[in-house]
Amino acid sequence: MMLALADFQLVFTLVGAALALPMSGTKKGLMSFPVLHKRSQALNLRTKDNVVALGNVSTLSYLIRLQIGTPPQLVEVVLDTGSFELWVDPTCATAATESQEEKCNASGRYVPSMSSTYVNKGVIQHIGYGKGGAEISYAVDDILVPGSNSEALRNVVFGVGLNTNELAWGVGGIGHGYGFNLHYNNLVDELHAQGITQSKAFSIGLGGQYSEAGGVIIFGGVDTMKFSGKLHKFDNMPPQIEGSKEGPWRYWIQMKSVGVTTPNSVMSTYEYSTMPALLDTGSTWSYLPQHIFDSLQDDFNATLSEDGSLEVPCSMIAQPGTVDFTFGELTIQVPYSEFISQLEPEYCALGILPRKGPYDRAVLGDSFLRSAYVVFDQTNQHLYMASYRDCGTNEQTLSGEVGAALNLTGQCHTGLRLFASIPMCWVIAPSAFVLWVFALLL
Ligand SMILES: *[C@@H]1O[C@H](CO)[C@@H](O)[C@H](O)[C@H]1NC(C)=O
Ligand SMILES: *[C@@H]1O[C@H](CO)[C@@H](O)[C@H](O)[C@H]1NC(C)=O
Ligand SMILES: *[C@@H]1O[C@H](CO)[C@@H](O)[C@H](O)[C@H]1NC(C)=O
Ligand SMILES: *[C@@H]1O[C@H](CO)[C@@H](O)[C@H](O)[C@H]1NC(C)=O
Repeated sequence: MMLALADFQLVFTLVGAALALPMSGTKKGLMSFPVLHKRSQALNLRTKDNVVALGNVSTLSYLIRLQIGTPPQLVEVVLDTGSFELWVDPTCATAATESQEEKCNASGRYVPSMSSTYVNKGVIQHIGYGKGGAEISYAVDDILVPGSNSEALRNVVFGVGLNTNELAWGVGGIGHGYGFNLHYNNLVDELHAQGITQSKAFSIGLGGQYSEAGGVIIFGGVDTMKFSGKLHKFDNMPPQIEGSKEGPWRYWIQMKSVGVTTPNSVMSTYEYSTMPALLDTGSTWSYLPQHIFDSLQDDFNATLSEDGSLEVPCSMIAQPGTVDFTFGELTIQVPYSEFISQLEPEYCALGILPRKGPYDRAVLGDSFLRSAYVVFDQTNQHLYMASYRDCGTNEQTLSGEVGAALNLTGQCHTGLRLFASIPMCWVIAPSAFVLWVFALLL
């Protein structure tokens, strides 16, 4: 989202230049955060025994915990590669359900007046998302480097929520910032500008739906024990909004095909499934054009539910099939156990919704991304991808060189993990059938 305010741009260009000093104690050139898995509950309409009933569904969101200010205050924000700005402090009272209000209350608040390093920029901005929106006031403050007592990223610009709608958490937007979509440095820019990372790159392994341990995001590095094989390099495509060169820069990748490998068949691919795809951790579901949605409905024998999703029998979660997404020479096989979500004890749905529009475009959200390990490299406008696995931790620094991630090979074995450790009973936990599309509408 472009900031229209010229004086604001000037202020931050100056602040940014004055503070681009190297930091001490950042020898590793990377900064990693655990990715937390949080469920929350929401109500939605769905067909139940041929009657439209109010369902009570549970979905998973991926968050990171930041420590902002002096002394540091803990706040949790949704990890969002589909937007560009960081803001905290949603209005909990306007969350969509009581469950979400409760989650919101528990996600921590940043109280500017309690931070000695807080500076109010006196600029207000509105950010709209696919679902919900936020009116924020810009602040400048320090963000503590995780695992350190005093080392911090200094003078980071971010928003403090004044008034937000239907959002249970603040948003950690880590899309393209300064020079692309913003007139000031966002978190990714600031980490590089202050020398914490050597490259405007970060990698994400969200972690499986049933993983207790969660996932990880590493700014400036890669964890070679979170994937198998080598990372494949792709171009980050320019803006793809309805085929024009307008619109914001995002993490667009050329998808070669979508297909399925059912328990009884070899892999088949769908016609006309070559298209640009947006990698968006802020979206719970993936969005594919209607013809692919229809093909998946046929192949899964799925029922179109009142809420627009494709319902399948929950027993399917345990079947050894995959939904296959191919990019160049790489195919990410998403096991049914990760592609199907259990929204209610006896209501399971495929992780996709149809995307309408004159051009074929895909949004690959969490239902795809938790099976991939992705490096987002803004320094060289590349995206790297491999199949997600979790076999330990080995964090390595990424230099800013072109192709740096190609030298980092995954240490996990390649065997497809079909349904490791699915809980036997329904997890009673938070959630929302709120379709968390934390990207602006395409
Ligand atoms: C929704 O489910 C949660 C957890 O199972 C339960 O606590 C809550 O009362 C339910 N709400 C409704 C409206 O059914
Ligand atoms: C959230 O916090 C507010 C203010 O403290 C309180 O009034 C409200 O009842 C809380 N909501 C829930 C669902 O816990
Ligand atoms: C799909 O559903 C139909 C009707 O319920 C059933 O006869 C058929 O066996 C199902 N096919 C598969 C592959 O499950
Ligand atoms: C990759 O590794 C080779 C051999 O160690 C090295 O010569 C090359 O510079 C590395 N490339 C990058 C981009 O880091």
